[in-house]
Amino acid sequence: MTPAYQKYLKEVLISQEALQTRIAELGAQISHDYADSPDLLLLCILKGGVMFLTDLSRHITLPHEIDFMAASSYGMGKRASSGSVRIEMDVRANIAGRDVLVIEDIIDSGHTLRFVMDTLIARKPRSLRLCTLLDKASRREVEIDVDYVGFEIENKFVFGYGLDLDERFRNLPFIGVVDEDALKSD
Ligand code: IMP
Ligand code: MG
Repeated sequence: MTPAYQKYLKEVLISQEALQTRIAELGAQISHDYADSPDLLLLCILKGGVMFLTDLSRHITLPHEIDFMAASSYGMGKRASSGSVRIEMDVRANIAGRDVLVIEDIIDSGHTLRFVMDTLIARKPRSLRLCTLLDKASRREVEIDVDYVGFEIENKFVFGYGLDLDERFRNLPFIGVVDEDALKSD
């Protein structure tokens, strides 16, 4: 039987192997950079960042905590965000004085992350950095400093490995490009 995602998949953009190789590299880099940190907190932005968080965490050789936060943005339809962002679920941990590394699936316009980073910095962490699996840098509308990037990608709508297509297919082990024609014919 053909899997349900197949009709929406134009091409595999980043294979499972390529993802895992790059995530292992990022984990090694982060382990090196935070070697002197007493108190690393990986703060995953839900829902899209969750697969990346769990794989990345297993490649970080330092003791660390994980926590979660959810944000959403409104105003320009569900495929693009605008300046109006809301925290849907706040982080439980007190981040004051801690080394916080935000884990995100993808940065597009940057509005979501700009709001999240501004919210977090006001709580006085010891350090605050950003790690994103995917970066659509050409789409940026607001400035964001990204400390760790898995892959820079072109302006194509992608899904899989945490990223959804109308809430489905987050479980795919690879990143695929959406076939826009198949979506229109739904
Ligand atoms: P931004 O605020 O425009 O940077 O939007 C970031 C959010 O939009 C991400 O966290 C995703 O939830 C969503 N997003 C942006 N591009 C894509 C994509 O290609 N596939 C799936 N979700 C996306
Ligand atoms: Mg996201």
